Amino acid sequence: MKTESTWANLIICDTPQDAAEEVAQQIAKRVRESPMCKLGLATGGTPVETYKRLVQWHRQDDLDFSSVTTFNLDEYVGLGPKHPQSFRRFMDDQLFDHVNINLLNTFVPDGTASDQEQECRRYESKIQETGGIDLQLLGIGHNGHIAFNEPGADATSRTRVVDLTDETIKKNARFFESIDDVPRTAITMGVGTILEARKIILMATGPGKSEAIKTMLNRPATSAHPASLLQTHPNVTVVVDQAAAG
Ligand code: PGA
Repeated sequence: MKTESTWANLIICDTPQDAAEEVAQQIAKRVRESPMCKLGLATGGTPVETYKRLVQWHRQDDLDFSSVTTFNLDEYVGLGPKHPQSFRRFMDDQLFDHVNINLLNTFVPDGTASDQEQECRRYESKIQETGGIDLQLLGIGHNGHIAFNEPGADATSRTRVVDLTDETIKKNARFFESIDDVPRTAITMGVGTILEARKIILMATGPGKSEAIKTMLNRPATSAHPASLLQTHPNVTVVVDQAAAG
């Protein structure tokens, strides 16, 4: 169901599966219409089903990723590409290893770069060099974070090294053996970097996200809730299930 929001195209789906289908359809449509498109991709629990559908359509319907370029939002500092919890590994496992994308055209910040500041600048330049991101997929944190832009992140922030909040560390501990294994810092695209994408799709499912979605949609834009800064972007689609819609 499409519904009104003052600034976003809001799509409320019955179930998380329907939300995954909707987002996958939008990504697949973009890939079919613009085979050389630049996709911004997200990790986390939310997009897993979406990637499954893309893999399925690649296998069944020849959805062709051969000319697509991707940029991921973020990566933990200190985790290499083979680490089971690195976002590079997540993307390989969930999507890249199962479709015909050229791995040389898949970009994830390097969490093990010896010079992290330089790695952030390199990542920004790479995005610019390829002409910018056409379609950026985003999740949302319970605290309103987008990528690892935690509360307080500036609307003009660029790719940089950030400290994770205790809340985010606790939430992400579910993916690690113990909370002590969760990295304390990460490289993330900035809010300003994200806002330069030509189209943004933010997806959220489950009751735990309903407060964050409500605040993002209805409260004034503020760095205290980074997702609300998307209000300044002209082309945002928000896809939620009934539970996240509250
Ligand atoms: P999740 O994470 O998809 O695992 O809920 C989303 C986020 O923190 O941005």
